[in-house]
Amino acid sequence: MEIQLKRIDERNFVDAFNLKLADGQEAFVSHPIRSLAQAYVYYNQCTPFGIYDGDQMVGYVMVIYDYDIPEYDVWHMMIDASSQSKGYGKEALKKVLEYIKGKPFGDSDRVALTCNKVNTIALKLFQKFGFELTGNYDKDEVELALIL
Ligand SMILES: CC(C)(COP(=O)(O)OP(=O)(O)OC[C@H]1O[C@@H](n2cnc3c(N)ncnc32)[C@H](O)[C@@H]1OP(=O)(O)O)[C@@H](O)C(=O)NCCC(=O)NCCS
Repeated sequence: MEIQLKRIDERNFVDAFNLKLADGQEAFVSHPIRSLAQAYVYYNQCTPFGIYDGDQMVGYVMVIYDYDIPEYDVWHMMIDASSQSKGYGKEALKKVLEYIKGKPFGDSDRVALTCNKVNTIALKLFQKFGFELTGNYDKDEVELALIL
């Protein structure tokens, strides 16, 4: 499996619009359509990516830099319902962390994200990569962070 991250642009945004979450997962993550609207607002501090297996977009993720802290945040990572549990999430997260290590927006080693506290598959995935609960939370979302 050769997973690649490709920036969302005029060639592939419709593929991102067509990605689907499984039933019940809308509570865990914003759909790429909403995420891309946010990417427009934060255009100078984020990169939205399609997650690709060959020519096929199998998922979506956005990396955003928070200049105030400063830190890198991973937003809205999702794998299409038809492609989940095949190892794509794990490979994509590796690529995301490689991208962040290149410090595309600024100098920080801290990577943070939030995750619904009942989203056990995602929580386990992030913890396997070394993300730890920070103790911060907002409603049902807990914060995890990793120092690269
Ligand atoms: C969370 C998500 C990104 C993981 O991606 P994925 O491609 O399905 O996951 P992978 O196949 O790479 O598996 C990652 C780990 O989760 C486990 N896993 C995957 N699907 C599973 C399932 N249905 N039940 C139990 N464990 C599962 C895998 O076994 C693997 O663990 P391992 O390393 O111990 O083998 C994906 O399920 C998803 O898009 N979920 C909905 C959106 C979401 O919740 N995003 C996260 C927001 S914080």
